[in-house]
Amino acid sequence: MIFETHAHYDDAAYDEDRDILLASMQESQIEVIVNVGASLPSTAASIALAEKYPFVYAAAGVHPSETTELNEETFAQLVRQCTHKKVVAVGEIGLDYYWEEPAHDVQTLWFVRQLELAKRIKKPVIIHSREAAKDTYDILAAHNAGENGGVIHCFAYSAEMAEAYIKMGFYIGIGGVVTFKNAKKLKEVVTAIPIERILLETDCPYLSPEPKRGSRNSSHNLPYIAQKIAEIKRMSYDEVVTRTAENARKMYRI
Ligand code: NI
Repeated sequence: MIFETHAHYDDAAYDEDRDILLASMQESQIEVIVNVGASLPSTAASIALAEKYPFVYAAAGVHPSETTELNEETFAQLVRQCTHKKVVAVGEIGLDYYWEEPAHDVQTLWFVRQLELAKRIKKPVIIHSREAAKDTYDILAAHNAGENGGVIHCFAYSAEMAEAYIKMGFYIGIGGVVTFKNAKKLKEVVTAIPIERILLETDCPYLSPEPKRGSRNSSHNLPYIAQKIAEIKRMSYDEVVTRTAENARKMYRI
C-alpha cells in the first residue's frame, strides 16, 4: 500500500470532484495521505479533510510565499492548529527565492519561528526550498532541525546536498520530476541515497509525472513515481512501495 506524503487536496483545482476523487484512492492502493498546509486557511482546510477522512492526516504550516499573513496573532492561531490530533507535522515551511516577495528577511523570520514551534511540540517538519539551497541548509543546521525528523520536499538540489540532509536526520521527498527525461540531477540523487531515506510524494495538483505531465496531478499517479525509483535503484516496485511507506510512517509517527 502506498503512502502519499505530500498533497494539496484543499486546492481549488479539486473543487468540482474532491470527494469523488478522495473516495477513489483505494483503487490505486493509496493507503494514507498527508494533506499539507501552505497558509492558515489551507491548514484549516487540511484539518477539515483529515476530520472527514480516516486515511487523511494534516500538516500545519505557512509556506514562505505566504509569510506576509503571519504576525503574533496569526502565529498563535497556527500554534493552536498544531495541537489538533491529526496534525502530524509542521509544514510546509522554508525559503523560496524564486519570487521577489516576500523579502528574504521576512521569510527567514517565520521559517525560524515555525522550526522552533516544531521543536517545541516535537513534530517533524516539511521543508520547501527553492533557489535557496545555502540559506536553507545553514538555517536547518544552526537549529539542529533534523532532531525530530522531517523531509526536504520535492528535492531539487545535488546528491551531495541530499546526503548532507540525511546526515542531519532528514528524509528526501521524491515526486513526479524524477520521471522527466531531463531530470538527470534528481536521478543521481535517487541513485546515491538509500531507500530508507526516500519518501513518495506528488505535491498535487502540481508536477504530474510522465506520462501525465501537464495535466492535473493526484495521488493516483504515485505508481509512476514508484516505478521510476524502482528502475533507478534496480529494486522491485513492491519493495519501493513498502519501504517508502515504512519510512513515512516512521517520520510522521502514524
Ligand atoms: Ni506542496
